[in-house]
Amino acid sequence: MKHPAPSSRIGGFHKLAIPERIQAVAGFAGLDAAEQAHLANTGNLAPDLADHLIENVIGTMNIPVGIATNMKIDGVDRLIPMATEESSVVAAVCNAARQCYDNGGFVTSMSGTLMIAQVQLTGVPDPEHARIRILERRAEIQVLCDACDPVLVKLGGGFRDLEVRVLQTQSGAMVISHLVVDTRDAMGANAVNTMAEKLAPRIAEWTGGQTNLRILSNLADRRLARARCTWRLTDIGGEAVRDGMVSAYHFADADPYRAATHNKGIMNGISAVVLATGNDTRAVEAGAHAYAARRGHYGSLTRWEVTAGGDLAGSIEVPMAVGLVGGATKLHPTAKLGLKILGVHSAEELARVIAAVGLAQNFSAMKALATTGIQKGHMALHAQNIAMMAGAEGEEVQQVARVLIDLGTVRLDVAQAELQRLRSGRR
Ligand code: MEV
Repeated sequence: MKHPAPSSRIGGFHKLAIPERIQAVAGFAGLDAAEQAHLANTGNLAPDLADHLIENVIGTMNIPVGIATNMKIDGVDRLIPMATEESSVVAAVCNAARQCYDNGGFVTSMSGTLMIAQVQLTGVPDPEHARIRILERRAEIQVLCDACDPVLVKLGGGFRDLEVRVLQTQSGAMVISHLVVDTRDAMGANAVNTMAEKLAPRIAEWTGGQTNLRILSNLADRRLARARCTWRLTDIGGEAVRDGMVSAYHFADADPYRAATHNKGIMNGISAVVLATGNDTRAVEAGAHAYAARRGHYGSLTRWEVTAGGDLAGSIEVPMAVGLVGGATKLHPTAKLGLKILGVHSAEELARVIAAVGLAQNFSAMKALATTGIQKGHMALHAQNIAMMAGAEGEEVQQVARVLIDLGTVRLDVAQAELQRLRSGRR
C-alpha cells in the first residue's frame, strides 16, 4: 500500500520545544538518529538563544569565521573577522591590505548615521497641496517622532528632517513622507518603523487620505560609508597590472552584466563582516545595489583612477546601515566577539571599517582577474573542498588536494579515484 505524502500542516509547531520540532521534521523528512543528533548540536550558539532569535528553530548553521590581517584603517591596525563560506574571500582582503600597508592603508569617513522611514499616503485629490500641508507640520512631527524613543534622543539621536514627495504611480498620485532620523549606534530599523507607524494616522487625518505602508528605506543614502586608498605602482606589479585593473573597472561601470559580478565581489567582503558582527546582511546588500543604480543605470560601487604619480587610487562609497546595539549584535556570542576583535566603539566606526574591506576585496578581485585569472587563487582551497567531498579525512585532504592541483584537474571523480588509490596503498 502506498503511504500518503506527509503533510506540512503541523499545527502548533512553533509551540514545540526544539527536540520535539526535530522529531517532527525527522518524521517528515526521514532523518535518522545521527542526522537528528547533528541538528540538536547547536555548537557555540545556545539553543535557547537561537530559539529566541527566530521562529521554529530546529538547529543552527555554522559558517567559518576567518580573520583578515594587514588592515590599517585611519592609521589604526585592525584584525577583521569575516564570516563566509566562500574560499579566497578572506585571503583577498589580506592580500590587498598587505600591498597598501606601507603606503598608509585606508582612509575612511562617513556621511552620518541617518536613516529614512517612509509613510505612503494614497487617495488625496490634491497631492501637491497635501504635501505642503504635511511639511507645515514639521515641528509637530519632530515632537511626535522624538517621543517614540527618548533614549535615542538622550544619546544624541532622533528626528532630523522631513521630506515629502509626490510620486506618480500606476495607481495614481501618492504622497510619500520621509522621516530622516539619526539612529546613532543602532541600525535603526525598529526606531524609525515605530516613528512611521505612530505618525501615519496623523498624516491621514491632516490630509483626508489613507496611509498604507510605514517602513524604513534600505536605500540608506544618508548613511554612506566612504573609504579610499592609494596603492603604489611598485607595490602592485607595474603599469600593465594597474592599467588592466582600471580597464576592468571601466568595463564594470559601463556594463550591468559585469557590474553585478564586480559588486558581488565587493559584497563578498562587506557581507562577511556584516554577518560576523551580527548585522543584517540583506539590508546592507539591498542598500548597496540600489545605490549602485542611482545614476539610472547599474554601475560600480567603487572608483579607480591613476594618480599624477602613476599610482592606483581606489575609492568606495556605499550605504552602510549597521549598528552595535539591537538585533543579534548584542546577543550572538560570536558577533560580540567579532566586535571585540575589531575594537570598534561606534556604528560609524564599524561602517567605515566595512567600507575599507569592500574596497580591499574589489582590489584583489580585479587584480586577479586582470592578471592570472581568478581560478589559480581559488584552486588550492577548492581542491581541498573537492577532496573532502570525495570523503578524504585528516591528512588525506591535503594529499588528495595536492594531486588534484598537480594534475591540473580539480574534479570529484578524480579525487575519489585518488583517495581510493591512497587508501589501498596503505592497506
Ligand atoms: C567571486 O565570488 C567574486 C568575483 O567574481 C568578483 C569579480 O568578478 O570582481 C571574483
